[in-house]
Amino acid sequence: MSRRQSLHGQWSSRLAFVLAATGAAVGLGNIWKFPYMTGANGGGAFVLIYLACVLAIGLPVFMAEAMLGRRGRRNPINAMRLLSEEESGGTWWQLVGWMGVLAGILILSYYSVIAGWTFSYTIDTVRGVFVGADSATVTDHFSALMASPGQLVLWHTIFIALTVYVVGRGVEQGLEKAVKYLMPALFVLLLALVAYSMTTGYFMEGLRYMFKPDFSQVTGQTVLDAMGQAFFSLSLGMGAIMAYGAYLPDDASIAETSFTVVLADTSVALLAGVAIFPIVLLNGLNPGAGPGLVFQTLPLAFGHMPGGVVFGTLFFILLIFAAWSSSIGLIEPAVARLVENHNLTRPRAAALIGVVVWVLGLLTVLSFNELSHVTFLAGSIFDNLDFLTSNILLPLGGLLIAVFAGWVMCKSSTVDELEMGIGFRYGIWRFLTRFVAPLALVVIFLNATGMLGLLRSTNA
Ligand code: TRP
Repeated sequence: MSRRQSLHGQWSSRLAFVLAATGAAVGLGNIWKFPYMTGANGGGAFVLIYLACVLAIGLPVFMAEAMLGRRGRRNPINAMRLLSEEESGGTWWQLVGWMGVLAGILILSYYSVIAGWTFSYTIDTVRGVFVGADSATVTDHFSALMASPGQLVLWHTIFIALTVYVVGRGVEQGLEKAVKYLMPALFVLLLALVAYSMTTGYFMEGLRYMFKPDFSQVTGQTVLDAMGQAFFSLSLGMGAIMAYGAYLPDDASIAETSFTVVLADTSVALLAGVAIFPIVLLNGLNPGAGPGLVFQTLPLAFGHMPGGVVFGTLFFILLIFAAWSSSIGLIEPAVARLVENHNLTRPRAAALIGVVVWVLGLLTVLSFNELSHVTFLAGSIFDNLDFLTSNILLPLGGLLIAVFAGWVMCKSSTVDELEMGIGFRYGIWRFLTRFVAPLALVVIFLNATGMLGLLRSTNA
């Protein structure tokens, strides 16, 4: 039984943890990123690989992360150091926490820019800009926004300010209240959007696009993208779930809460895809259009459905809240560390991290306009930030977390903390955590970097 106390207080209940973790998980990753990643990777096969990654790697790592967090009851860096001492691992395990803090800061730097797009679209929807619009108008509208660094910086700034405000207020009042009613509302609106998609006449095409796999298109890169997306969408691999787990009541079931969050997150992503692809196909848009896809698609739906102005406005506002509840999770590890180790007050720590993130975010803003010609490795500056975080830092963090929970921690500690006995469900968790997740992660990494091919050719 773990009976440590967190310095930052605790969730008032198990439900509060589920809501907060769902708030972190459900965000732009589900509604903005999942559809365009699916489109860029050709549809069905990507979705299936994504689902396999969520189940075989995402769920066990999610449980592992929540478990480490609750056992350590500290920020990810300190939790990893403490647990590693207890389990006689090396002090370098705290690097997992440092990597997570870094990943969170880097992700938020571009995340808040994209969240800024949502502000701009909320206002344009209210103003009726999209009423009756055709796909050319909507696509031009997006390009015009991208071409305006001033606008992008303005919204980016507002979003960071909102994030800093909530994180500064602390666990109980801040994080918890923000998500209680808004996630269910977003879910309902998505269902309504799916219902609208059913009326387009392209619903079956959309479903076929999303679920009919064409494995001939699949490369090592597709699999890495799918796994990176699973980590990103579930908020895994960077200590955020560890930080939230640190506030989890002692008697809450980690398996059940984790399963609920993973299910909610995956449902929202799938619903977003099912809502969006019929509209993409109906309007002859390119599914591989990239990060702008959702912003070039949803306005078309809102512009043509009855009551679209009200509905669209509500939808974008809820999307802002979804992004907001994710952004607080992105800086929570860094803020908790500053509060615990450097004696800063929460508001100060949040403001300090906010400034760093804001400055970094300017790089993403400029990568869509003034610096769009600067490309290297994965593409634009934004593409590189995205690749470095989603496809490298998060899966690497996940790999280390799985290895720690599966191999370094002794079995009795995990049995004690997971509180699910040592039956069938525990057996599956342990097997996935020890073998499946680490092996899959290593193979996917090597395969994507082409090293597997290299090894094969030297062996032959
Ligand atoms: N899962 C979030 C989304 O889908 C993004 C995210 C990635 C995140 N890592 C995180 C959110 C850590 C909170 C904490 O939008």
